[in-house]
Amino acid sequence: MGMHTPLTARLGVAMPIIGAPMAGVAHGALARAVTEGGGLGMIGVGSTDRAELVAREASLASDSGRLPFGIGLMAWALDDCPELLERTLEARPTLVSVSFGSPRPYVEALHDAGIMVASQVQDVASAVAAAEAGLDLVVAQGTDAGGHTGTVGSLPLLQLVLDTVDVPVVAAGGIATARGLAAVLAAGAAGAWVGTCLLACPEAASTAEARAKVLAAAETDTVLTRVFDVAQGIGWPEEFAGRALRNRFTDTWHGREAALAADTAAGRQLAEARKAGDYETAYVYAGQAVGLVRRSRPAAEVVRSLGEDAECLLRDRLEELLGVARPD
Ligand SMILES: Cc1cc2nc3c(=O)[nH]c(=O)nc-3n(C[C@H](O)[C@H](O)[C@H](O)COP(=O)(O)O)c2cc1C
Repeated sequence: MGMHTPLTARLGVAMPIIGAPMAGVAHGALARAVTEGGGLGMIGVGSTDRAELVAREASLASDSGRLPFGIGLMAWALDDCPELLERTLEARPTLVSVSFGSPRPYVEALHDAGIMVASQVQDVASAVAAAEAGLDLVVAQGTDAGGHTGTVGSLPLLQLVLDTVDVPVVAAGGIATARGLAAVLAAGAAGAWVGTCLLACPEAASTAEARAKVLAAAETDTVLTRVFDVAQGIGWPEEFAGRALRNRFTDTWHGREAALAADTAAGRQLAEARKAGDYETAYVYAGQAVGLVRRSRPAAEVVRSLGEDAECLLRDRLEELLGVARPD
């Protein structure tokens, strides 16, 4: 059967599922596994990543050019590091996202190279700007999402963006099971952009200890905070905080960012904790859907069951709610 949306048609994938770009976590191995599961896997390129990472992980993700994949960049970091865009163009991905800042300056070069362009938006104004910039996909990223995000919940944001723009809209933030995927597809989304549900997969580039933290966390264990960016002196625009698992560091510093910025010892502690894999101080970015991640499963299996189970669920619900007969 399969589910057909503008996303599956444009990307040539079996399922309307995109594996979110996640710096430090979604590298080539995870992206490839997502694509092998029937979705489109993306590589996350962080603001402090070296440009060499792009070619290396792209080769892994695409299995040396055999599979489609995507690359996720951060607009605010690209201005200072144009090399990241150059390496991205050379890697020939199917899709590139330019999020957290204006994608507009980069759209033409990407389109000229035959690459589809997406951007994550966190409110109506940024959705309109993205559509006007000529993007192929707009990703409505709710505050439930893991990693850097805005302040509007996924469901209100999705409804607002679907009502506002004419380009295909993909839903991000809080989708980790077939119920979530079925819900956003029924609402009109062209697909789902999922990160947190992949955080415990063995293909993730994170540490085993970080994956164990994900498995142990409940839906109430996250906080939207700037403390890790402040402590590292990373130039994230202030409107984007990051959703991470709460720990001793966030309990100590969240709400005291000015004091943290002046405390060089705290910055050093964080750097040391990251090296040592001490996640009572170091960060594990994760969304509210972390409470739904209970087992470590291969990413291809996560994606396949997400898609197949959502299809069954949609058929059953349509039959139950509307009396639409299920085809044999
Ligand atoms: C660990 C982690 C790292 C992330 N890194 C990036 C990134 O490098 N670039 C980006 O555009 N989005 C990044 N995000 C946000 C995701 O693209 C996506 O919006 C989010 O994972 C979707 O919500 P969910 O986590 O509830 O599935 C990250 C998310 C997580 C959980």
